[in-house]
Amino acid sequence: MSGRRLIVAIDGPAGAGKSTVAARLAAKFGLLNLETGAMYRAFALKAIEGGVPFSDPDMLEQLAAVTSIALEPTPSGNRVLLDGKDVTGRIRDAAVTKAASQVSVHPAIRRWMVDLQRTLGEKGGIVMEGRDIGTVVFPHADLKIFLDASPEARGERRYEQSGKAASPEAILRDIRERDERDRTREQSPLKPAPDAVVIDSTNLTLDEVVGRVADLVTARLAQAAD
Ligand code: DC
Repeated sequence: MSGRRLIVAIDGPAGAGKSTVAARLAAKFGLLNLETGAMYRAFALKAIEGGVPFSDPDMLEQLAAVTSIALEPTPSGNRVLLDGKDVTGRIRDAAVTKAASQVSVHPAIRRWMVDLQRTLGEKGGIVMEGRDIGTVVFPHADLKIFLDASPEARGERRYEQSGKAASPEAILRDIRERDERDRTREQSPLKPAPDAVVIDSTNLTLDEVVGRVADLVTARLAQAAD
């Protein structure tokens, strides 16, 4: 780890369990958990409120220039501040979810976010989760996990988490649509880094996934101590 503190990158598609796994790892190893999806969500909320079209890169870039986004890790998850205001409770609804995936395709928006994320994480001692952490944000992360699961399994989990509020078919459709956009965008598409450990959680419990990743973190820490 060459003198700096541990950086764990967790990437993967929507609904693979990244946030829960990252939060549990952070608690277990005393790391800060930084959820980069929440940053794209906060920016998407601002675009919605400002009536800025998600397909207009120039207007989005102008909006980014007057936007401040901060993450405050807490034991129960990240507080998300948009221009100094707490928007944590407002960034999970369906419209923001879809808009976050749309605004995140634009290279200028990604460059801005990547810079912010590097600043947030540069001291290490973090678990950062998102789509491009191991490939772009921290290509030298000490441990890279790519957490995947079948669309059906991810849809089912989201359905349970939603309190069965939306129809399972609509949830699966949204997941497939977001997968397609996240995986095929030109800049930093969602894909495992060549040196990532890929874990398919389709047939694993959450405890099993956390156990596997925790073992990898422990091994990495032991190596660093040698
Ligand atoms: O992880 P999430 O579902 O909260 O992310 C919301 C959207 O943000 C996701 O559809 C794609 C985008 N995103 C991204 O492009 N890069 C990241 N590092 C994190 C999220």
